[in-house]
Amino acid sequence: MIYTVPPSVLKLDGDPLEVDKPKVVIIPVKQRADKPVIEGIVKKLDEVSGGLVSKSAETGLFKAKRGELYTFPLNGKIFLLAGVGKGENADDYRRGLAKAAKQVVDKHEEVAVELSGLNAEFSNEAMIGFLLGAYMLDHFKSEKKAKLRVVYHHGEVNLDYVKPIVEGVYLARDIANAPPNDLYPERLAEKIKDLFSSLPNVDVEVFNYDRLVKEGFGGIVNVGRGSKYKPVLVKIHYKGGGKKIALVGKTLVFDAGGIQVKPSHSMTDMYADKAGGAAVAGILWAAAKLGLQIDLYGLLGVAINTLDGESYLPSYVIKMWDGTKVDIGHTDAEGRLVIADAIAYAAKEIGADVIIDLATLTGAAVVALGPLIAALFTRDKQLENTFRDASEETGELIWPLPMADVYKPLLTKNARLGDISNVGGRWGGAIYGALFLEKFSHGKKFVHVDIAGPGIGGGEASSIAPEYWPGRHAPGYGVRLVISVLQKLATS
Ligand code: BES
Ligand code: MG
Ligand code: ZN
Repeated sequence: MIYTVPPSVLKLDGDPLEVDKPKVVIIPVKQRADKPVIEGIVKKLDEVSGGLVSKSAETGLFKAKRGELYTFPLNGKIFLLAGVGKGENADDYRRGLAKAAKQVVDKHEEVAVELSGLNAEFSNEAMIGFLLGAYMLDHFKSEKKAKLRVVYHHGEVNLDYVKPIVEGVYLARDIANAPPNDLYPERLAEKIKDLFSSLPNVDVEVFNYDRLVKEGFGGIVNVGRGSKYKPVLVKIHYKGGGKKIALVGKTLVFDAGGIQVKPSHSMTDMYADKAGGAAVAGILWAAAKLGLQIDLYGLLGVAINTLDGESYLPSYVIKMWDGTKVDIGHTDAEGRLVIADAIAYAAKEIGADVIIDLATLTGAAVVALGPLIAALFTRDKQLENTFRDASEETGELIWPLPMADVYKPLLTKNARLGDISNVGGRWGGAIYGALFLEKFSHGKKFVHVDIAGPGIGGGEASSIAPEYWPGRHAPGYGVRLVISVLQKLATS
């Protein structure tokens, strides 16, 4: 959405077997007893083709497993059967259709998707899966691929829901994956401002470096000061009425570790250390487009953590926006400093009822839950359940870890001079991150989501990730999850 516009979607009357175009037709096919279910349009296709599908089923050539594809030409068209397994949950459709999208996206300009027989939820999820699977970031390539157009036959897709969601995820992916030389903090702020200026109920305010210094945002200022590309705080306000909720996103355009520099292999993916803020931007976009009844704030702490004569040093004592004095125990624990200022601002200046942060905060969260599952921290049982329900619905996986009071004393004890250190103990690092941040929420309802694994994606995750994730790129994790949470909070 900064670089990548989702494919257009249109409903087309008529049967794909009868109309002339598009030439590529995708048909989801369910599976029973290890065989494709041959009914409805698949049956028709079988008949017209002289038993092609049923014969393929007999020989085991196509079983309609989720993610299995079967392509054949017929009457001047190409038919692509997309297995959706049992077809009994949203993920079957999301993943099955995403696989088909990946197959066609860089080869065809127009495709049809047949949706007869799918209920309202599955139609939407099939289309979302397809569109997310079709994401392709070629803005930085010299040669661009033609844009894909999608039409669908039968079924009902609620485009008023599907489009905002897909655009939100595209926006999150564009930001998370952007190279830091293109999207340095001030540039990112500008792009967000431009983009959101098209939405009538949204204001964007950018706090530049001078203002951050003047107003005492010590966390953001100290982390970002070592780069010639100075840090900013971006505030996006969507005025939907209702509850006041603040979303805070860690937006490290690059995290080299600072003076305590990372080993080089740990640094390669750190362009995506902005995945939290990327998701927050995507959520604000989707929430505004969906017209959710929430007074929603998005706060992005945007900085580059790098080495320089101006960089902050371990043993510094820095004064945060809320006055807390933090001992710097490690310059690579920078994310919590950047977002702590924003969390405190959300609590004290904005006065939000609920504060939710998304952050690629700790390697320890990835150690605990692997690359596909985010860590959920909150003391509020109701919010915890809301997140878990949202996770079930959207397929964005999350699992709770404890805000463990037993570990709290170490943050204070580690402070040689100030009030609190930015690092805790050697083990359980994700928990220290959560406890540190909680201190800045000043008693407001607080949820911290450590997305270090699924926020970044790629690597080991690519071969086991859902098909609608973009391979080696950051997947825009969190947009669907939090939109679903917000929908529940708006009506509760
Ligand atoms: N951005 C990293 C966390 C991270 C690591 C995200 C791997 C995704 C994949 C964060 O800023 C960091 O460096 N955290 C340190 C904290 C430590 C110094 C207390 C970590 O996890 O090692
Ligand atoms: Mg770091
Ligand atoms: Zn980081």
